[in-house]
Amino acid sequence: MRLRLGVLISGRGSNLQALIDAATDPAYPAEVALVISNKADAPGLERARAAGIATLVLKPKDFADKAAHEAAMTAALESAGVGLVCLAGYMRLLSPVFVSAWLDRLINIHPSLLPSFPGLHTHERAIEAGVRFHGCTVHFVRVEMDTGPIIVQAAVPVADGATPDSLAARVLEQEHKAYPLAVRLIAEGRVTVAGDRAVVARGAVPDAVIAPIA
Ligand code: GRF
Repeated sequence: MRLRLGVLISGRGSNLQALIDAATDPAYPAEVALVISNKADAPGLERARAAGIATLVLKPKDFADKAAHEAAMTAALESAGVGLVCLAGYMRLLSPVFVSAWLDRLINIHPSLLPSFPGLHTHERAIEAGVRFHGCTVHFVRVEMDTGPIIVQAAVPVADGATPDSLAARVLEQEHKAYPLAVRLIAEGRVTVAGDRAVVARGAVPDAVIAPIA
């Protein structure tokens, strides 16, 4: 049976789409079972519906507190038989209770080469810092935002004259490859967590995933 994914979104959902698209291949070892959004108007919900995937809107303000909201998410994920929760542009911090309930079964994609540039506005900050390479990271989630064992990274060169928008577009292209790759590695049982690091079984990932200079 394929690994059942629960995808948490707040917006556009292009990474959700990348996972949906990957799973159209019957040989892909995972499938999106449930999409949960904290916003009723998240465009990603329409992507899920178009693919015939179950969706759920759980708005924090409809619950007594954060614990109740997260308990509802966990209940829905469990009843959908979810084995891996994927954050894909989910713009709320998760509590230690939720993170430990899903420990090592909860991953995130972040638009920088962590541990550089955790947080928001990563592309602007990378350009301001003058880094030559930027990229994205798929990692297991820990309580502190944008930390946790790194599963896959993809790097892109920062061109002279890059703008936050042009750099974001180049990184996003890599995100859409990196996220399905990381999920596949996990679904194939090739990823183990050892302390602060994720270990990927030999031969599973190329030495470096670097996008060619455009
Ligand atoms: C992506 O850049 C992702 O790395 C970050 O939020 C953005 C979500 O985009 N966490 P999308 O909703 O998947 O299109």
